[in-house]
Amino acid sequence: MTKKEQLSLFSEDPAALLQKLAKDIAHHDRLYHQKDAPEISDAAYDALRARYKALAKAHPDLVPADDPDARVGAAPLGGFRKVRHKVPMLSLNNAFTDEDIIDFVERIRKFLNLKETDKIPMMAEPKIDGLSATLLYEKGKLVAGATRGDGQTGENVTDNIKTIKSIPHKLNGTFPDRLEVRGEIFMTHKDFSKLNAQREKDDEPLFANPRNAAAGSVRQLDSTITAARPLAFFAYALGEVSHMTWNSQSGLRKKLANWGFTLNEPSALCETTKDMLAYHHKLEEKRHEMDFDMDGVVYKVDLFAWQERLGFVSRAPRWALAHKFAAEKAQTKLNDILIQVGRTGAMTPVADLEPVTVGGVVVSRATLHNEDEIKRKDIRIGDEVIVQRAGDVIPQIVEVVLSKRKKTASVYEFPTHCPICHSLALREEGMAVRRCTGGLICPAQIVERLCHFVSRDALNIDGFGEQRVRTLWEEGFVKTPADIFLLHEHEETLSERKGWGALSVRNLLDAIEAHRTVPLDRFIFALGIRQVGEATARLLARHYKTFEAWRKAMIAAHDEDGEAWQELTGIDQVGPLVARDLAAFFAEPHNEKILDDLLNQITVRPAQQGAQNTALAGNTIVFTGSLTTMGRREAKTRAESLGMTVSGSVSKKTDYVVLGEDAGSKEKKAKELGVKILNENQWISLTEGKKI
Ligand code: IVH
Repeated sequence: MTKKEQLSLFSEDPAALLQKLAKDIAHHDRLYHQKDAPEISDAAYDALRARYKALAKAHPDLVPADDPDARVGAAPLGGFRKVRHKVPMLSLNNAFTDEDIIDFVERIRKFLNLKETDKIPMMAEPKIDGLSATLLYEKGKLVAGATRGDGQTGENVTDNIKTIKSIPHKLNGTFPDRLEVRGEIFMTHKDFSKLNAQREKDDEPLFANPRNAAAGSVRQLDSTITAARPLAFFAYALGEVSHMTWNSQSGLRKKLANWGFTLNEPSALCETTKDMLAYHHKLEEKRHEMDFDMDGVVYKVDLFAWQERLGFVSRAPRWALAHKFAAEKAQTKLNDILIQVGRTGAMTPVADLEPVTVGGVVVSRATLHNEDEIKRKDIRIGDEVIVQRAGDVIPQIVEVVLSKRKKTASVYEFPTHCPICHSLALREEGMAVRRCTGGLICPAQIVERLCHFVSRDALNIDGFGEQRVRTLWEEGFVKTPADIFLLHEHEETLSERKGWGALSVRNLLDAIEAHRTVPLDRFIFALGIRQVGEATARLLARHYKTFEAWRKAMIAAHDEDGEAWQELTGIDQVGPLVARDLAAFFAEPHNEKILDDLLNQITVRPAQQGAQNTALAGNTIVFTGSLTTMGRREAKTRAESLGMTVSGSVSKKTDYVVLGEDAGSKEKKAKELGVKILNENQWISLTEGKKI
């Protein structure tokens, strides 16, 4: 978790945090399911989901409309025809410890009202790390194949699926007329290495891991490309089926094998929890001997009659569970410790390692988090260390192998100055991070800050990817935020840059022009002042109204005995820590200069006035469910422009609740409290000043 996220954990209200977590989950789902290019490790993703789940459980009335727990994966990518799954393709809940498994079995026992002595046979199978697919057979003939997509709707990849050798085009023996077989498409380690070796020779980008290679191959619009990729398929479940002559998962597995499918083995029918754990343990040990990636074990209640009774909770069955394997580890030498400097100057130590293979991926860097972490783990340069990789990215150092410590191992002195701009680096009391004080003169911070400045929630200028900002900075076109608004002077030079193109430069310049007037709150947020997130920026804008007034007040707030300080810290939800960061920003002469230059280029629009006159001013409104005519953000902005307060949860103080589609528990709460409920049309009428 970055410092910013940690801070927001405390400073944001749970509704905002839930929404933020939901947004993050959706973002990572998209990267994983549509782009095959995850940015975070599986473990980090699991942690994100766990955080969301815990918070959602504590605040069921605040669950956002795009509740990730009610959704699986991401909506399918454009390009393929869409297929609606008759039986949804669901996901599995994850478990990590033995206790989780004991609880799982006990929950089932309770649910089914079984006795202590009753056995609950469980099918245990390897959990394959590939991509799930569903195959439709009519009268034994393969007629269609689709990916999971978001669980409800997938992509029709029939032509591609037909090129996979282990998928039978015709079933053997007897079979139901209509049968949907589900399983995992994957690539073996051997085939993955061969494919990447060939790609290296052909100067093509390498796949990060077998899962990405498999997913990328299935999603080829040209099926001859898929045919050239060595894909395989394991069958493990059914979707729609016209007629069943078997009544258990173990029975189904036998059928699948008879029909001609390859199964994910070794599997075991376990009678007790002890058997299940023993199976998990054995498979984890054998993990590296297998030629395919497994990320755990799946337990499934064997009897279908029981599965049916147990049913589902939102996106996962109650009758199955994924028991994940522990993160993979390896031992290597720590060659050096490097320092990375982020947007707010936070200096993060990074381990420079002797390259080592951890779970099939070569690792040469690992995060060390912060200064204290190095001390706590007593990590010295030259030490042998244990590296752990949970998923694909950001490996970590678990511990030092003390028995192997050499006399030459040296204690690391955390730098007191920024390695990039050489400004003093300070550590505030009670804080884990040391920060470079260089602010906008520190190159490392500038690029990050420029990216933040143009980002969606700040100035929202399209066409500025991080790489582009970096290039513009490195080549001297953009050194400060104000330079962005002078880019038009370089249109010709930029259009001639390799890989940019006149059209994309034109689009970028148009986007910049469209944002020469900025609302005060977005402007404050865009400055990237520490601890000043969107919510604080909005509070400040609302309070001080104009940029000039705000600036004057922030400069004066330097004096903590003065009136300006009193006023600032008197704003609800602005504490002394935030106030100090604001004052510190204005105390820096180079920040003052940056603001002056910027104001020569742009106009800061005062916070919306006049709202107080509307009939709705002062009312509190809650939006729930998905709105069809306007997005959430737009609805919120409109309400705020009418002087209303938008809240995430329904309470006695709520005046209106607007129900979108699939509204959840808030409707019930609103009814209980007698809060006025509006549908979307009524809400629009209300904003137009009509009687409803
Ligand atoms: S059963 C209703 N069995 O894991 C659940 N899934 O994390 C049906 N997976 O979407 C899935 N190996 O893509 C099942 N032996 C196995 C599996 C397996 C891998 C995947 C599958 C699923 C995901 C959930």
